[in-house]
Amino acid sequence: MSVVIVVGAQWGDEGKGKVVDLFTERADVVVRYGGGANAGHTLVIEGKKLVTHLVPSGVCHPGKSCVLGDGMVIDPHTLLDEIAECQERGLLVRGELLIGLGAHVILPYHKLVDGLREDHGAKQGKAIGTTRRGIGPAYEMKAARRGIRVRDLLKPARLRELVAANVDDLAPLIAHLGGTVPTKSDVAKWTDEALAAGERLRPHTGEAGRHVSHAITKGRHVLFEGAQGCLLDVDHGTYPYVTSSSTIAAGACQSAGIGPTQIDSVVGITKAYATRVGEGPFPTELHGDAGERLRKAGGEYGATTGRPRRCGWLDLPALRMGVRLSGMQSLALTKLDVLAGLGDVQVCVAYKLDGKELDEPPTDPEDLVRAEPIYTRIAGWDRLPSDARDITDLPAPARAYVETIERMAGVPFCLVSVGPDRAETIRLIDPFS
Ligand code: GDP
Ligand code: IMO
Ligand code: MG
Repeated sequence: MSVVIVVGAQWGDEGKGKVVDLFTERADVVVRYGGGANAGHTLVIEGKKLVTHLVPSGVCHPGKSCVLGDGMVIDPHTLLDEIAECQERGLLVRGELLIGLGAHVILPYHKLVDGLREDHGAKQGKAIGTTRRGIGPAYEMKAARRGIRVRDLLKPARLRELVAANVDDLAPLIAHLGGTVPTKSDVAKWTDEALAAGERLRPHTGEAGRHVSHAITKGRHVLFEGAQGCLLDVDHGTYPYVTSSSTIAAGACQSAGIGPTQIDSVVGITKAYATRVGEGPFPTELHGDAGERLRKAGGEYGATTGRPRRCGWLDLPALRMGVRLSGMQSLALTKLDVLAGLGDVQVCVAYKLDGKELDEPPTDPEDLVRAEPIYTRIAGWDRLPSDARDITDLPAPARAYVETIERMAGVPFCLVSVGPDRAETIRLIDPFS
């Protein structure tokens, strides 16, 4: 196995950062595919925390090539801040970073439109609860063939023309949403700042797709890092409460420009329970005190926006859907320690809708809201040792929980995470083996 995709199996925040950091030990190249700074991936190494938003989570392994794929949408200022933070820690100082010239760029007006849409939507009870990082508007402009790419940041005349045309296009929408239409001097300032950022990023830019393809041809180990999760996928997630990119494993091929036949293995990441940030259906959500207990125990606050995450029981039908959509061959289970001391654990094994039992969530959003989760109760466990390194180190009820999920999801676990730190992990299968 030399090409592995890591993908979130739920609504994001499953612990992809931790798992990608671990797997990077065995990788030569780590590629972030899809999304932008809506992602927040947390790494904890010997107690020190780093949250990556754009830079691949393999960054803590000096010398490994870190690629930002062409399918991403990149805020150049956020990226520069992140590079600076990494370099202060002695990371990314050996020229490891490669930013795809074809990736699209997020500028202040994308974020302005994202925020205005959310505020406008909220008044009608229709907000999506986006991260307001400009993700939707940037992908919209890309699909409309009016987008600005990293390569354009390096061409002043072209960039000036594109930014002016974008703002002209968006002015009526901004006015309609109650915003202040940007002035000519705003446009000039944003362009100057983008050009300055482009100059600073220039040494890191290049043909990301070719770099990744060559690495694969040479038999190097390539790890793809997904952002968000399968249920936030623009085509297959809980639309319209989704992000604007392909978060499933197929997105890795599209973003990097490689063929699906080059993928050897897909690993899905799932928490031992479920969380969601923003609006949208969440059938196993726990409300009131029960939800609050889980949120507190898991520290469930957004790594990007700090918003409290909605919490609930593990949803196996949704997990099965993720396994199917991404062709996952193994799963990594995270945050098993969080359930310790919370009493019996429930897990949704199927849904009931109009008298029928469903083993995957209904795809129509109105049906999903009506569907009733069917739960199985599993005995809880009081504590879980953070120095557990073998599955037999787990208390018997926790092991029974792991085995139940594995059986019902239909794929084996390749690791079980028992704490945020890199070391707090039970390793079962090496995805590169
Ligand atoms: P990502 O977006 O999928 O990378 O996940 P986030 O970083 O947004 O959220 C996952 C959170 O859980 C982070 O704070 C991690 O440090 C933490 N985490 C990851 N694995 C574990 C684990 O096994 N146990 C605990 N307690 N925390 C974990
Ligand atoms: P990581 O990679 C959790 C959610 C937002 C919102 C919806 C659309 O850290 O798992 P967007 O800003 O993308 O237009 O918001 O998607 N969302 C995430 N939720 N983790 C993420 O990333 C997310 N990225 C976007 O909360 O509901
Ligand atoms: Mg996250």
